[in-house]
Amino acid sequence: MLMDIWERARSVFPGGVNSPARALKHLPRPLVAKGAEGAYLFTDKGRLVDLCSAFGAIILGHNHPRVREAVIRQLERGWIYALLTEEEVELAEAIKRHVSSISKIRFVNTGTEATMNAIRLARGYTKRDVIIKFDGNFHGSHDYVLVKAGSGAATWGVPTSAGIPAEVAKLTVVVPYNDVEAFRRAAREVGDRLAAVIVEPVAGNFGLIIPDVEFLKALREETEAVGALLIFDEVITGFRLGLSGAQGLFGVRPDLTTLGKVLGGGFPIGAFGGRADVMDLLAPAGPVYNAGTYNAHPVSVAAGLAVLKELETGVPYEIADAAAAKIAEGVEDAAGRYGFDVVVKRMASMFQLYFKKGDVKTPDDVRQSDERLYLKLHELALRRGVYLTPSQYEVNFTTAAHTKDVVEEVLRALEDAFKELSLQR
Ligand SMILES: Cc1ncc(COP(=O)(O)O)c(C=O)c1O
Repeated sequence: MLMDIWERARSVFPGGVNSPARALKHLPRPLVAKGAEGAYLFTDKGRLVDLCSAFGAIILGHNHPRVREAVIRQLERGWIYALLTEEEVELAEAIKRHVSSISKIRFVNTGTEATMNAIRLARGYTKRDVIIKFDGNFHGSHDYVLVKAGSGAATWGVPTSAGIPAEVAKLTVVVPYNDVEAFRRAAREVGDRLAAVIVEPVAGNFGLIIPDVEFLKALREETEAVGALLIFDEVITGFRLGLSGAQGLFGVRPDLTTLGKVLGGGFPIGAFGGRADVMDLLAPAGPVYNAGTYNAHPVSVAAGLAVLKELETGVPYEIADAAAAKIAEGVEDAAGRYGFDVVVKRMASMFQLYFKKGDVKTPDDVRQSDERLYLKLHELALRRGVYLTPSQYEVNFTTAAHTKDVVEEVLRALEDAFKELSLQR
């Protein structure tokens, strides 16, 4: 007899998957994808409206024709040269046009590589070792930052990974997110040993936490005062919250920025960039090493250029942001009608809902939310054809493919899911 795909997956992959967030904690087996188009995923559970959007990597919708055409055009010319290309220069110039804090940039392959190399560069520049990160922020899966991390690490209850040398973890000081006083104290205490502060300027890996602008300003002030660098990790927010990212919206200028996700239009890419005097310390110009066979991969660069061209029209943002606003409003209404205390947080095309009273301004607020109810709602929505992001510690993302009709479909499904949730109470 043919073995079931899940049995096969479990026999070859630890936990049956290649990334923890794909294993759905509350369901006996993960979804198996067959294809995707626009706002929809085609899976072994049928057609689903996708509100996870590849954890934010997709902003135009799946299988977008402009991106597909650009990728095919590149494939027809060969797909790897390990040489400089004109297109990667063009992509860097486009990024610089929109993100004014970036003078020079290095393309890598993932957000993880971007943050790892940005931190190494900050250490090389300042000749200091200690970094500050924030509770619940996730910057990828490398040793410097896998301490009190969010995203899958929070969902699975392993915020600090085994296997990280204590000597390395000691160099990462963790501070509560969105807490100005705690941050100022920590920055002053670390003082002249502080190489960098790395932060998600809008936190998208512990649900969605929107910081106070004073918090971001304090990061700028204190890093300047102690001679450390400020790194904005905009792997999620870059080109998601608008062309200039969170830094454009909040008006706070970091020394270095990391990018990924939307930038590659669903193909693997990462980037870190910022002040020219800092970036020029990178090899071969300087002594801080980064290299990669696949850096600035031509296919990802082609996809990135196509995505930016679409985003520059402004239309994708209008559709995606309006869809998120409408769904957020619908969730609040439905929750209220069926007697649930729910907080909904939204910024542009990102939103998350929490089963709790009051507000959500810190990771502790998220921890106090009823995770069980979120997972139950997730399951009920799934049965009605809507794939919400699979954990209260992740974020829902809409895209330019989430048109009015799709939004109506989502609202009907969520209304029904809340109704059933209320009957199960
Ligand atoms: C803010 C942030 N930084 C870094 C990363 C790591 O990116 P990647 O998964 O491409 O390695 C993520 C991934 O979710 C992220 O959300």
